[in-house]
Amino acid sequence: MKISSRINDIQPFHVMALLARAKELEAEGKDIIHMEIGEPDFPTPQPIIDASIAAIKEGDIHYTAALGLPALRQAIAKFYKTRYELSISSNRVVITPGASGALMLALGVIMQEGDEVLLADPGYPCNKNFVRFLSGKARSISVDATSGYQLTLKHLQDNWTDKTTAVMVASPSNPTGTLLAKSELIKMARFVKEQGAYLIVDEIYHGLVYDDEVDTAINIDEHHKIDENIIVINSFSKYFNMTGWRLGWLVAPESLVNDMDKLAQNIFLAAPTPAQYAALAAFNPATTAILESHKEEFKQRRDFLLPALKKLGFKIEVEPQGAFYIYANCENFTKDSYQFAYDLLENIGVAITPGKDFGENKANTFLRFAYTISIEQLKEGVQRLTTYLA
Ligand SMILES: Cc1ncc(COP(=O)(O)O)c(C=O)c1O
Repeated sequence: MKISSRINDIQPFHVMALLARAKELEAEGKDIIHMEIGEPDFPTPQPIIDASIAAIKEGDIHYTAALGLPALRQAIAKFYKTRYELSISSNRVVITPGASGALMLALGVIMQEGDEVLLADPGYPCNKNFVRFLSGKARSISVDATSGYQLTLKHLQDNWTDKTTAVMVASPSNPTGTLLAKSELIKMARFVKEQGAYLIVDEIYHGLVYDDEVDTAINIDEHHKIDENIIVINSFSKYFNMTGWRLGWLVAPESLVNDMDKLAQNIFLAAPTPAQYAALAAFNPATTAILESHKEEFKQRRDFLLPALKKLGFKIEVEPQGAFYIYANCENFTKDSYQFAYDLLENIGVAITPGKDFGENKANTFLRFAYTISIEQLKEGVQRLTTYLA
């Protein structure tokens, strides 16, 4: 039987096999410390759950408009005002099934077959697969500590071709947790605009930045001259602790919204309705108080794990400012981080994601630690690593 050639080019998440093995070991009674999972361990805040249950009880769970519930689009526009002091029209807000749906929609309306998209390696692995799925070519650019594992204007200039349609960045980044400096972001945005292309900025971890205040990419130019070329991606998954609800959004230039509407109608009709009603409670003060306490807990975990890993001999050249990841160089211990991740799992029950999941750039000497477990569990993980690595 034939299958699409694009499917052969799409990589699975390697960590899923590791997670499956971890589950097997757990079923055998072993205690596993999970530092591989990229989702908050906190439950969804109760006000969000209550809002969804109330809507379900009402029974009005039909399709919403493809662009999303008007009340939620407005609530998100208001959130930009409160959070970033930025006025945007709710017409520019598009509700999607997760940031995943938003990325698909964004690329779907701007890409032609054969177009090139520039992205950082290491980076969020699905992005290059989305580009391939849309018959485009992802041009992965190796980044390192010197640019905080982020793309720079120079990278764009050096890799631009007449086929380049878009640049994808994430700030904070998965897997590195590092931010894109505002000064670089604006230079890149101006360059992309000059080329008549798009800058897709994934701000899914924006709510989880621990030391600095971050601004949204659509606010970096006070005259808003580059907004027409920027698409901001966001989600309820991470900061809002709603991974399984499958709800995200994007803020698009007005000129793209009608086409996004058309594409959304066709590929997913609408984002899940109970999740959209739930999210109406995501911005209220009671929810914010819960989410901010979770954020504080993440910060404490980072502040514990970062020095502990360094002390163990992992090299972490750029301090992660956000998300819940630490991307650590493990060359002091191995030249094969994939095998090393399995060795750690089998020998001491510590599960970590190998660098291979985030690209090819020195992936064999990196691991991603996710601090999506309690401080007590992190301490236990560090203890096991200390004994094993000694
Ligand atoms: C950088 C980044 N973007 C997008 C996503 C997709 O998130 P979701 O579809 O759950 O909103 C993830 C998930 O891990 C991510 O790390």
